[in-house]
Parts: sequence; structure tokens; C-alpha cells
Amino acid sequence: MYDIQHIREDFPILSREVYGRPLVYLDNAATTQKPLCVLDAMREEYLNVNANVHRGVHYLSQQATDLHEAAREKVRQFINAAKTEEIVFTRGTTEALNLVASSFCESQMQEGDEVLVSDMEHHSNIVPWQLQAQRRGIVVRHLPISDDGLLCLDDVEAYLTERTKLVSITHVSNVLGTVNPIEDIIAMAHSHGIPVMVDAAQSAPHFKIDVQAMDCDFLAFSGHKMYGPTGIGVLYGKEEWLDRLPPYQGGGEMIDKVSWERTTFERLPFKFEAGTPDYVATHGLATAIDYIERIGMDNIQAHEQELTRYCMEQLQSVDGIHIYGPQSSKLKVESSKDAVVSFNVGDIHHLDMGTLLDRLGIAVRTGHHCAQPLMARLGISGTVRASFALYNTKEEVDVLVQGIHRVSQMF
Ligand SMILES: Cc1ncc(COP(=O)(O)O)c(C=O)c1O
Repeated sequence: MYDIQHIREDFPILSREVYGRPLVYLDNAATTQKPLCVLDAMREEYLNVNANVHRGVHYLSQQATDLHEAAREKVRQFINAAKTEEIVFTRGTTEALNLVASSFCESQMQEGDEVLVSDMEHHSNIVPWQLQAQRRGIVVRHLPISDDGLLCLDDVEAYLTERTKLVSITHVSNVLGTVNPIEDIIAMAHSHGIPVMVDAAQSAPHFKIDVQAMDCDFLAFSGHKMYGPTGIGVLYGKEEWLDRLPPYQGGGEMIDKVSWERTTFERLPFKFEAGTPDYVATHGLATAIDYIERIGMDNIQAHEQELTRYCMEQLQSVDGIHIYGPQSSKLKVESSKDAVVSFNVGDIHHLDMGTLLDRLGIAVRTGHHCAQPLMARLGISGTVRASFALYNTKEEVDVLVQGIHRVSQMF
């Protein structure tokens, strides 16, 4: 049984009030709240274990190193990677994407070579490639999407050319909730010998990821969007690819030997981890994964899909509402839409709607959601976005829908 009341008790922030009203937190695609077990684990490490990792022979350093490396193993299991060498800790999805953009373009791409992204990418899967386009003359191409916010596999085939060296695609859109057919895209790219990077920032918190079954070459996600701390994320890369890429940053930890004549680099994954890692955050992330696994990813997915379906249904009662992305009437929510609902109501500006909902205690995101090219494609300046996590309830969806009715009546 999914004991939602019990789960909510793990997140004390959910019991607070804002403007004298109970908080309804529906901005989970931006960041999730943290359960007590994550906060306790990090506090305990700072209180009783704290020491720099991989460097000291002393007891505390070894204990901190053990926790840090146990976190790597936990992440490996979480995404079913073949080896811990394939798990690189980064500050988040953004840094993982920048790492691959920089190291892949430097070593694998020539001027005129192409990277293929899509019209529904977050800026962090656009701008790193654009920086490389400016620096190295690579070309960034973007797959079109349908009005319903879906990619078409025929387009993927058509956009792969002899110059395509990498496909970098989001697994789930942070605006539309679209779940892309990532296995099919990867199989298609691989049939042309092209590797694929997956932005899993919005999928890793919501359903089971199996990088070996998916057969992706790189995959990135952020700890803070899945009940872990901020400032920690993961880059998964197939060993054969990580081996081929040059380091991203230089410094301590990532070297084998340094001399004025020649510096050699550490083995994987340390080659990509310059400087002191956030070893307390890695332990926090591992604790968050334990928490997710205790509840069960399948249970979380079922709960969030039910909320998404319910929200889409209830929003139909709002006059003039336009919901962006896959429509539940046409598609099965389960297979094509994840825990994100983006909408606008008539001519009401998304910022006005968000601000007035906030006064009712409802936290939603408004604006372009770091996806300005997608906004341009949809012909809008922004949306209101409600996004769900494992602790949200149907009652909260009801409060949201009532709030939208109330705001609509003011205009
Ligand atoms: C699809 C997607 N990719 C990348 C990111 C960037 O994640 P972070 O800011 O944690 O690096 C986000 C964050 O909203 C996202 O939704």
C-alpha cells in the first residue's frame, strides 16, 4: 500500500504554511524536497566522519572514502550500469552535459560535424553545444516536434547525416512531460554508428532507468530533482567512450603523475573528477536512492501517473485552458507523459497566474522553464507548470484546480 500520509511525514517542509495557508508544493521538476533520512545522513557525516576523500591514510578519511565509493556503487545499481568506473560524479545534469560537450567535441568532432538535439531541450542541452559551435565550428541541428509535443522517428532518421557525430536528447521534457521513445532513437542512431547522450534529469526521479537495456552511451541526471541534495549529479558513460575522451577539468584527484614535462591522468572515473568532490552530497544522494527504493520506483511511477492523469482530467473544467504536450485524450498517459502539466488559461499571463496561485499557498513554476526555443516553437512566452513528486496528493491537485478557477474569475 502507498501510505502517502506516512511518506509526507518524512518531509517536514510539506507541513509548513505560506501566507497563512498550507503549502502545496508543485514545483518538483525544478527541485524536490528532501526527506529527513537524507538530511540526517548528511548531518551525521559532517558531525562524525568529515574528512577529505581518497587522500588520507587516517581513519576518518578512509571512512569518508568508503561512504563516497559506496554511493558510486549505489548509483551504479540504480541505473544498472555495468561498472562503477562508468559513474562520474558531477555537480548536476548541466555539468555532465558540459563535460561531454567539451570533451567529445574536442576529441571526436571536426569543423562542420553535427550534433543532433531536439526542439524540446532544456537550455543545458543546447547552450553547451552552441559554445562548442562557436569555438570549434561544429553544427547544432534540432529535431522538430509535433504540435502535441512529440518527436517523430522518421524525422530522427532524416536528420542523421554523414556529419552527425552525436545525438543528445532529453528522455523526458521538463515542460511538456513528453516521454521520448529513447530506446528507438538510440537503436536508430546506433544503426548509423552514432553514439547517444540522454538527458535523464526529468526521468531518473520518476521511473526505472536501465542504461544497459537502453544502450545509451552517456546519460546525465541531478540529485536534487530526486530527493537528494543540490550540487551533486551523475554522468554515466560507457567505459569505451569515457576512455576515449580527454579530461574536462584539471586539478587534484584526476592525475596519475604530474611533472613539468608531462602529466598523466588517473584511471576512470577519477580522470573526470578534478578537485575535492562533494562527498557529503554523494552520501546524501545514495541515501535518497535508498529512500526511493524503499518506497519502490514502480509504486512511485504508478502514483505520479495517477496524479498526472487526474490533474489533466480536472483541468478540463477550467474555461479557456490550454494544456501543452501530449494530450491524455489521444494518448496513454503512462507511455507518453510524465509527471509534468504545463498550461495557460485564456489571456491570463503565466506570471500573473503563478503569482496569484502563490498567494493561495500553491508553488508552481512560471515562465520559459529554461526552454526558450521550445517556447518559440509553441508561439508563447511561457507557461504555468505543475510538476509532481512521490509525496503529492489528489487533494493538492484539487487545491490547484480550485485556485486556477479562483484566479480565472479575477480576470
Ligand atoms: C530536462 C532537464 N535537463 C537539464 C536540467 C538541468 O539540471 P541542473 O540544473 O540540475 O543541472 C533540467 C533542470 O531543470 C532539466 O529539467
